[in-house]
Amino acid sequence: MSIIADDNDFEKPKVEKKNPVVKPEAVDCDKNFENCIRPKSFDTYIGQSALKDTLKITIKAAQKREKPLDHLLFYGPPGLGKTTLAGVIAQEMGVDIKITSAPALERPRDIIGILMSLQGGEILFIDEIHRLNKVAEEILYPAMEDFYLDMTTGKSQTVKTLRVPLPKFTLIGATTKAGELSGPLRDRFGIIHRLEFYTDEELAQVIKRTAGILEIEIDEKGALAIARRSRGTPRIANRLVKRVSDYALVKHDGKITEDIANKSLDILKIDEFGLDTTDRSLLKLIIEKYEGGPVGIETIAAAIGEDVRTIEDVCEPFLLQAGLLQRTPRGRKVSPAGYRHLGYNTGKFNSNQQTLF
Ligand code: ADE
Repeated sequence: MSIIADDNDFEKPKVEKKNPVVKPEAVDCDKNFENCIRPKSFDTYIGQSALKDTLKITIKAAQKREKPLDHLLFYGPPGLGKTTLAGVIAQEMGVDIKITSAPALERPRDIIGILMSLQGGEILFIDEIHRLNKVAEEILYPAMEDFYLDMTTGKSQTVKTLRVPLPKFTLIGATTKAGELSGPLRDRFGIIHRLEFYTDEELAQVIKRTAGILEIEIDEKGALAIARRSRGTPRIANRLVKRVSDYALVKHDGKITEDIANKSLDILKIDEFGLDTTDRSLLKLIIEKYEGGPVGIETIAAAIGEDVRTIEDVCEPFLLQAGLLQRTPRGRKVSPAGYRHLGYNTGKFNSNQQTLF
């Protein structure tokens, strides 16, 4: 496809528009907690071992061939380390990475500008790539496949077509919704990987590493107690370490033990499965108002006052994985395990039933 690039397109940036590229730089832990604790190498990146093994081989092969890596697509629930892994790959390849996300690439000039700013071998990371608009997608196709942009400048009689070569780069796309990616875009990724939820033991290691960086004292059982309530997700585990550390400091001597972790997480209303009040309200609503389901996602969202995207992207993946919720063609259903977890007898809800929450 050719891109009609109005000359004005390149000369008049909208003032309120944020720079769509975020350059990873030196970070201050107080200001940017997530970046500060991000592992930078495969040695310090915990979990996803099968994926790491494959990536190490792919990287070595690319280095031997002196070629950039194939384009990579990572998918899976939020918080499992897709951006972190892209940073690790860049570091291991010894190249720079430019990080952006699809909603920041609204206008053709956003994506063109980034592609033209890339240096040979660099990595371009696009988060939420399923949200890329059609025009941006079409600009990406020849860029990914043959490393060029087809641009048409000027108007009617004075129209000129330019084929602009690009340096060879690697695109890493990340998405929580692989199914929403268009077929042609998905087909242009050489490597497609799903990130898995972490085990409690892996999360305990992540927690101890983070506590070490933040100079928080924690013992093995304290780390496991936080891990068990972190929904298999390092981003959640890292947030909880900070919250539990606050509690440990104010109520005790600052050290996180099993008892301190459990007390603090109880106060935060995070239960032994890691469910928070939103997750429990969602299950409770389906049980009490819709006889356990099936019920449509829009109805659930309106009733609990959350938006559909938050429910689909944040709450549901773990509830489904934990077997508490089921997705059917007619809507969401609470599973027998979901009933039991909230303290209901399985089967239809009856208002005389006692609940634990
Ligand atoms: N912090 C977030 N994700 C991590 C991971 N996979 N390994 C180590 N620390 C992390």
